[in-house]
Amino acid sequence: MSDLLIRDYDDADEDIVLELLAGSLGWLPDAGHREFFRWKHLQNPAGRSAMWVAESAGQIVGFRSMLRWVFDVDGAEVHAVRAVDTATAPAARGQGVFRALTLHAVAALTAEGVGFVFNTPNDQSRPGYLKMGWIELGRPPAAARPSGPLGALRAARSRTPAELWSLPSDAGVAATEGLSGALPTGPQSLSGLATRRRAEHLQWRYGLPSLSYRALRRDDGIAIFRLRRRGHATEAAVCEVLADDDDGARRLVQEVARVSGADHLLRLGRAHTSWRELPLPGGGPILTWRALASTTPVELSRWRLSLGDVELL
Ligand SMILES: CC(C)(COP(=O)(O)OP(=O)(O)OC[C@H]1O[C@@H](n2cnc3c(N)ncnc32)[C@H](O)[C@@H]1OP(=O)(O)O)[C@@H](O)C(=O)NCCC(=O)NCCS
Repeated sequence: MSDLLIRDYDDADEDIVLELLAGSLGWLPDAGHREFFRWKHLQNPAGRSAMWVAESAGQIVGFRSMLRWVFDVDGAEVHAVRAVDTATAPAARGQGVFRALTLHAVAALTAEGVGFVFNTPNDQSRPGYLKMGWIELGRPPAAARPSGPLGALRAARSRTPAELWSLPSDAGVAATEGLSGALPTGPQSLSGLATRRRAEHLQWRYGLPSLSYRALRRDDGIAIFRLRRRGHATEAAVCEVLADDDDGARRLVQEVARVSGADHLLRLGRAHTSWRELPLPGGGPILTWRALASTTPVELSRWRLSLGDVELL
């Protein structure tokens, strides 16, 4: 597209961008999605998302956002971004809009000193990312825990993507309530890469009321989860298990299974058979990565991701 102009996103663009996302990502042009957009891109304590629009003949034809995310990498704080919501208007597709927006973002964020960009792109956008310097790190391991024979059967019959929105639940307490006060520090491992789990990050991540995240708290730990529909099954997405040791984590997972009423639990990480978990065949979503200011990728086995780091966003 010869007259393509890329500029920073402005709050005045919100209506048009929401319409674009509604037409491309299956969002609805409703108050719930507007609130979701603002929560995700404007209220993140790591900073407002980096966002750009592409214009042609005075019309917005593309949108690109990069959500800010802070990691600990071998004990050091690294600022990263995740490539999330992006869309090109249907009539402008296949003409390099996504490419121009994404390469513009890569240059701007590298100049800003952001370490790297990561994401779990869908099949439609992954080929495009791979052509722009992204690499596939692989699929992180995931574990499923059926509630019993019936739950296992429903899970086996529900091999479809989970729904975006949560099912209501009154198990445990609201996540924001569970997360208030001092939090368990968890095992003191500094090796590898993990999200920097500051209280303000967790309060934001699990704090949008319409997503109904719930918490179970014990003296030695906390589990955060939400219920969502996957095909015929009710799934408990176990987003965080912060416990001082494995035994505390096992008890929390068991407790989520008991109080949530879900057909199965889903967690990111290696399956523990002693927790009645099974490895999810194939693992979690494909994780992709691109260098910005830091040039060496952390290999997949050193990423300590939780489900809350990848689901929903
Ligand atoms: C994915 C999407 C953003 C691509 O936008 P686009 O402006 O048409 O993409 P571009 O024209 O810039 O393509 C960039 C590169 O990716 C490649 N590409 C884009 N979509 C592709 C696809 N579905 N399969 C294979 N390659 C693809 C193009 O071949 C191009 O490479 P090239 O420059 O070497 O030819 C657009 O299809 C879209 O809005 N889809 C719906 C929303 C969505 O799925 N968003 C991504 C998830 S957040």
